[in-house]
Amino acid sequence: MGRGSDAVPDARRAALLLIVCLAARAASAIQDGLLPNGNFEEAPPKSQLNGTRVMGRNAIPHWEISGYVEYIGSGQKQGDMLLPVPEGAYAVRLGNEASIQQRLAVTPGARYSITFSAARTCAQAEQLNVTVAPESDVLPIQTVYTSSGWDSYSWAFQAAGSVVTLIVHNPGVAEDAACGPLIDLFAIKTMPTPRSSKNNMLKNGDFEDGPYIFPNTQWGVLVPPMDEDDYSPLAPWMVLSSTKSVKYVDAPHHAVPHGARAVELVSGMETALVQNVATVPGQLYRLQFSAGDAGNGCVGSMTVQAYAARGSVKVPYQSQGKGGHTRGVLDFAAVADQTRVVFVSMGYIMKPDGTLCGPVVDDVSLVSTRNHPARRLLL
Ligand SMILES: *[C@@H]1O[C@H](CO)[C@@H](O)[C@H](O)[C@H]1NC(C)=O
Ligand SMILES: *[C@@H]1O[C@H](CO)[C@@H](O)[C@H](O)[C@H]1NC(C)=O
Repeated sequence: MGRGSDAVPDARRAALLLIVCLAARAASAIQDGLLPNGNFEEAPPKSQLNGTRVMGRNAIPHWEISGYVEYIGSGQKQGDMLLPVPEGAYAVRLGNEASIQQRLAVTPGARYSITFSAARTCAQAEQLNVTVAPESDVLPIQTVYTSSGWDSYSWAFQAAGSVVTLIVHNPGVAEDAACGPLIDLFAIKTMPTPRSSKNNMLKNGDFEDGPYIFPNTQWGVLVPPMDEDDYSPLAPWMVLSSTKSVKYVDAPHHAVPHGARAVELVSGMETALVQNVATVPGQLYRLQFSAGDAGNGCVGSMTVQAYAARGSVKVPYQSQGKGGHTRGVLDFAAVADQTRVVFVSMGYIMKPDGTLCGPVVDDVSLVSTRNHPARRLLL
């Protein structure tokens, strides 16, 4: 072989080495699903426990704690109250000002959503402060959306580096230092870049891209309200409210009008599900969507109201709580170069067990109707 042909295998070898290195790098970033010991089933050593209180900073495998943190087994009581554990045999309770954290290997610049379960214990208005620097948000833990006592929450961030630290902190100061939310089941999901398509100016119009839902949890995942400059786990949809959430539901446990995921508007008129979209002033558009029920026993008269520019439409739906949906249509003329599409549930509905519920919204599309007959009628 001559010199010239030797160069090719060398180049191949180099390319192969590069691929191996890239693969190793990709493999070191965290996978979607449960975080390492995200369900706290790996227990601290007995020597690190005083009763239920965890003593050592690094006693819980894969986590680091500070303050009054308890390791709670299922069946554990506080007074007469049974402390609920959502999955497996163990959960963690964060007392006053306590926090728990884990370092995550991530891809710099990528966006991630975190899903976790939490339950309120003794204080009335418990909160959790979730941080991946520089993002930090205080989520209200209300536990009014499931009868199990647990809700799952979601939160999103953009990775500022290749290793970030997830911190969950109870900012509460209750009289009893042990009082505070129980937490369990932490998962992560890499968020894709939302894209619009030829048939839909909205991105993620079918709500298929959203926070991780554990296959064995039946209660969906709450998407809490956020500031407009926060990252949304349901991007580019945002939840606007002072304290109330929407619920992200999956087809294995709910009636979903289209695809595998939908949004249940569980907080009535206090919460708006919105997306901003670029439009041309004066141009006509048609918004279409499904409104129905999640097949989760939420019975009653429901109304979804949609708004865009100066237009609005009310879509009534009579729910038997067994699933089903109807289609809503809103034709409107844009008045600005950006239009906000808004969905609101116009009523408050409760299941027989006292938990809040509401209509589902799904399969939302927005198209320009330049050639639509409606334009001729309006002009
Ligand atoms: C365990 O907790 C009890 C009650 O708070 C305390 O009196 C005791 O000193 C603690 N034991 C250890 C080894 O820290
Ligand atoms: C939330 O936690 C972060 C990180 O621990 C902290 O910097 C921030 O001040 C906390 N916010 C509140 C409102 O407690």
